[in-house]
Amino acid sequence: MKNITKSAAVAAAVIFAGAASANAAYPERQITVVVPFAAGGPTDIVARISGEHLARTLGQPVIVENVAGAGGTTGITRASQARPDGYTIMMGHMGTHGAAPALYPNMKYDPTKDFTPIGLVAGTPILVVVKKAFPAKDLKEFVAYVKANGMKINEAHAGVGSVSYTTCTLLHSLIGTKTARVTYRGTAPALNDLVGGQVDYGCDQIVNLVSQVKAGNIRALGSATAERSPALPEVPTTKEAGLPDFQVSAWNALFGPKGLPKDVTDKLVGALDKALDDEGTRKRLLELGSVIPDKKGRSPAALQALVESEVKRWGPVLKAALAADKK
Ligand code: MLT
Repeated sequence: MKNITKSAAVAAAVIFAGAASANAAYPERQITVVVPFAAGGPTDIVARISGEHLARTLGQPVIVENVAGAGGTTGITRASQARPDGYTIMMGHMGTHGAAPALYPNMKYDPTKDFTPIGLVAGTPILVVVKKAFPAKDLKEFVAYVKANGMKINEAHAGVGSVSYTTCTLLHSLIGTKTARVTYRGTAPALNDLVGGQVDYGCDQIVNLVSQVKAGNIRALGSATAERSPALPEVPTTKEAGLPDFQVSAWNALFGPKGLPKDVTDKLVGALDKALDDEGTRKRLLELGSVIPDKKGRSPAALQALVESEVKRWGPVLKAALAADKK
């Protein structure tokens, strides 16, 4: 009996040592970051900027795979089911890991249980943007125009559960009206149509918008934040512009599938930390209006707490907003 126990212990130690040395070599090949929206949009931009630095630290290519659909839940479902070995991770956000459970009763993942949090990458303030030729010159006129024209105007969003859908749903419930809603596979294609004038307005993350607002191809009527963004200082806050209750901010964060080995997670967490401390990476994110989390705010524990509080927060808000919308 004693011998059996001893040999079992030796076998376990060998297996453990094998697993530990396999992970010690991580990463030995390219890492894929699943972005659950179209290329060129806010989540993709944040993933590519941070991914470039992750690759330098980890010594392997970090490639982005865009798996769009169902407001980001298609890509996140797929990535959550990947082998938890650190070679497939994902960029989730306030929609996929906060709002979506309230909108998809049969969702195949639970944001609070089915992931290994790696870290918050960027806070992304929300702006209300309109096409260049939109008749309203400011947010007050926009509200009046939306109330008067309702379904005659179009809002562009990235699918039920996305940040753009969720935040504009909140906006509609505050204004007390609804408009036609046009779905895209991300806000990159939505923005193309806004620039082209095929749609009228949207609520989007600042990182997607700075260059087009600066170029005068679209107009930003308000930033739903307490302070103006240093990236677009000429855009008033929603409070300054007369809609103080529209306060909302989004975020993008890295997750692994549930069960990532601790040493693999630690390497990814360390690499992200380095990326967010790197001057060049910070500059690029800040120029686009991102808010870079401090050390504590970007930790896996802080991300897990954020996800739990966002799921709790968005559930009742969205249910109330959608119930009002049906009336
Ligand atoms: C995107 O990258 O297209 C988005 O983050 C869209 C959204 O959630 O609104």
